[in-house]
Amino acid sequence: MTVTFSVYQAGCGLEDELARLCSQALHGRTDRRPVTADLVASRLAAGAGQPVTLLAAVRDPDRRLIAAAALRWPYVRTGIGRLWGPVVHPHRQGHRLGTGLLAAISQRFGDPSGLPAVTTTEIPSAATAAHALFTRARWARLDGPLLLRGPIPPDLGTPPPAAVHTAQTTTPTDLAAQISRLYAATYPDHDPRTAHDTLRRWSTDHRYHPSGLLLTGSADQPTAAALLYPLTNHHVDDEPSELLIADLLTDRCLTAVEQFTTCRDLVRAALLHGAGHGATVARAVLPAHRAQAIAALDAAGVTRRDRFTLYTPPTTS
Ligand SMILES: CC(C)(COP(=O)(O)OP(=O)(O)OC[C@H]1O[C@@H](n2cnc3c(N)ncnc32)[C@H](O)[C@@H]1OP(=O)(O)O)[C@@H](O)C(=O)NCCC(=O)NCCS
Repeated sequence: MTVTFSVYQAGCGLEDELARLCSQALHGRTDRRPVTADLVASRLAAGAGQPVTLLAAVRDPDRRLIAAAALRWPYVRTGIGRLWGPVVHPHRQGHRLGTGLLAAISQRFGDPSGLPAVTTTEIPSAATAAHALFTRARWARLDGPLLLRGPIPPDLGTPPPAAVHTAQTTTPTDLAAQISRLYAATYPDHDPRTAHDTLRRWSTDHRYHPSGLLLTGSADQPTAAALLYPLTNHHVDDEPSELLIADLLTDRCLTAVEQFTTCRDLVRAALLHGAGHGATVARAVLPAHRAQAIAALDAAGVTRRDRFTLYTPPTTS
């Protein structure tokens, strides 16, 4: 097996190939979703000032991509980077390609303990091979976020809640500062620079459109926000179009009951947005401590389907 390393650059033309490989590898799993080139780019692109993402690839003699993995560095110095993959073509699984790619990436840093602070992407509970791969490599297991999923009825029958508007129709004077404030209130344990940069990070993602950023509360001081990405994979016929509720942010000043009702309004508006884009399934991935947001999704039929696991490299060789 020959592993080729390169630097990932957004728009390098590999996104379609990587998306197709990933889509094939995830077939039949709870985390199956439309894997588009834009989704791959959002997972791999390095932000401003971030070291470049390292891409490792294996091709067959006909130059077809059969396995890949990538290492994205921490977003801020104190943050956590991501190991994307390894992802191996279904016809090639079980032949140590995944093990070889993980070892090759680790060896670039001397051994796994030399890697930057990273976790894997979210691994579903039933992904036996992935668990075996990281356990055998002595990576440590961490509890990951919850996967919630549910149908979007074609006719939801209700108008969008009056309290909800979008960043397209009503833009607060300083939207970036408002989103930073809501992010910091929702994730107080995250680095303040991550909160500060939220709108820039969201809006440089190709999937972003201001109509998919929902806000509640007054135009100048929103009390909650939801980020939506409708996703359709035009290369795969039997895959439903999906609405990803990528985040739900709430203000510190809201009581638990208000958080629930606000998230319920946002979720209802989100499902209408999804239905308008032809999505038939809604999906959200949220940390388990986001109780009110999870309850609001649950009330709308977007229910818990899985608890993901993350792995982090061993600290000593
Ligand atoms: C996880 C994955 C990368 C493993 O790659 P692979 O080349 O098939 O795996 P390997 O041949 O290197 O074997 C790795 C371990 O998985 C086990 N394994 C491989 N295929 C398996 C299967 N179908 N069922 C159960 N275990 C399996 C192997 O026995 C081995 O465990 P061991 O070392 O304890 O014997 C591959 O299955 C895949 O692409 N899965 C979908 C994407 C994914 O989950 N990626 C990981 C994190 S995002």
